[in-house]
Amino acid sequence: MPLPCPATYLLPFLPPPLFLTAAALVLTLDAAFVEDLDDSFKDNRKDDIWLVDFYAPWCGHCKKLEPVWNEVGIEMRSSGSPVKVGKMDATSYSSIASEFGVRGYPTIKLLKGDLAYNYRGPRTKEDIIEFANRVAGPLIRPLPSQQMFEHVHKRHRVLFLYVGGESPLKEKYIEVASELIVYTYFFSASEEVLPEYVTLPELPAVVVFKDGTYFVYDEYEDGDLSSWINRERFQGYLNVDGFTLYELGDTGKLVAIAIIDDKNSSAEHTRLKSVIQEVAKDYRDHFHRNFQFGHMDGNDYINSLLMDDLTIPTVVVLNTSNQQYFLPDRRIESTEDLVQFINNILDGTVEAQGGDGFLQRIKRIIYDAKSTVMSVFKSSPLLGCFLFGLPLGVISIMCYGICTVDSFGGVEENETSKKETGDRELTDEGSEEEQEQENKEKSAEISDGEHGQKHIFDKKQD
Ligand SMILES: *[C@@H]1O[C@H](CO)[C@@H](O)[C@H](O)[C@H]1NC(C)=O
Ligand SMILES: *[C@@H]1O[C@H](CO)[C@@H](O)[C@H](O)[C@H]1NC(C)=O
Ligand SMILES: *[C@@H]1O[C@H](CO)[C@@H](O)[C@H](O)[C@H]1NC(C)=O
Repeated sequence: MPLPCPATYLLPFLPPPLFLTAAALVLTLDAAFVEDLDDSFKDNRKDDIWLVDFYAPWCGHCKKLEPVWNEVGIEMRSSGSPVKVGKMDATSYSSIASEFGVRGYPTIKLLKGDLAYNYRGPRTKEDIIEFANRVAGPLIRPLPSQQMFEHVHKRHRVLFLYVGGESPLKEKYIEVASELIVYTYFFSASEEVLPEYVTLPELPAVVVFKDGTYFVYDEYEDGDLSSWINRERFQGYLNVDGFTLYELGDTGKLVAIAIIDDKNSSAEHTRLKSVIQEVAKDYRDHFHRNFQFGHMDGNDYINSLLMDDLTIPTVVVLNTSNQQYFLPDRRIESTEDLVQFINNILDGTVEAQGGDGFLQRIKRIIYDAKSTVMSVFKSSPLLGCFLFGLPLGVISIMCYGICTVDSFGGVEENETSKKETGDRELTDEGSEEEQEQENKEKSAEISDGEHGQKHIFDKKQD
């Protein structure tokens, strides 16, 4: 059985400064709601639904997650959720961790029967709990009444709904839900529950409500249900941040974003935003299969992503499947300009930049290293000196050590050559003669008598 966190027993042996001990004490109280998992977890987990944080003791992001994780544990327990919360040191139980497909730290997974769902959202208490409740709950949530539909419709900006009775399409819907529940909810209802403005060409149907309207899945036009849902699970126009961009990567779409300063009320910024909004809405039929639209506030993130220096406001189109990007060669002033730019990208007349090639990766490593150093020095010069000065200091001390040791090295050589030859005698019989010769030359101090005795002794042993 998984044991409660043993950190409490270890506390007296830990020698950190007082404030850390105090913090640890507070944490251990919380940690009682998070079970520390070990080898036995593999056999014991089947009957329950588990939310597990696979961590490594040395990883910084894991340490940051820990207090959040304890709160998640408390909240799940107090809300009476059937989901058990645990954590596992993936470095101590690496075989189990790799069986669950843990590759990075921290990895958050919800384990439900044979299925394991990865959590990839923001590591906040609310988001993690929402995820756990969504994935642990029923795959398809029925909406039995009009009020229920209204209520849910208001709360979800993107809402997938199956309408109709039993059918092969419903089976497909359930199958897709079992995979994509990590991203979104799946509902079902009968036609009577829908508002009047909704007219469905046929039943059964799968519908998505979003952007103030609804779209019906069409098997012939939209391809398989799974990829349709994957494409449609975002609003047509998004406020894009780094995390959204990462999520959008799964859709394989091109992402057209206005990079603006949200606080800058000058016409250029607001105009560009509304141009993108208009194209997203008015040209949905043309572009929504291949494009996601949105804006991003500030250029810090995008600059580090593209390793470029964009002047805002501007438009960038990112290819999420190969990390290439496109920049317009002149100002985008109107929807026509933007549509033109997008069409040029599609017919290949705009040159792609970036990518995931070898040179780009080298550039990325250098860029990241540079910006890490820069940011540390910028935020705290003292820490910078310490962080980068300390290793330098250690290295120079080591160099000094090696150099000075070298000059003493000769003294010890007598010892070592003695040992070495001794070892060789034991293992390598064939070259005894040679070694004897060597020994005499190398270590005059070993007397013949000694040598002879040893020799005989060795032979006896053999
Ligand atoms: C707003 O943007 C314009 C150009 O797009 C720039 O010249 C101006 O300095 C910005 N204003 C502020 C307050 O950042
Ligand atoms: C985006 O990347 C994919 C994968 O490399 C490629 O097939 C596709 O043509 C690219 N799209 C554009 C518009 O360059
Ligand atoms: C080994 O030790 C002897 C006596 O201490 C010394 O004379 C000799 O130079 C040493 N040999 C080496 C290689 O250091």
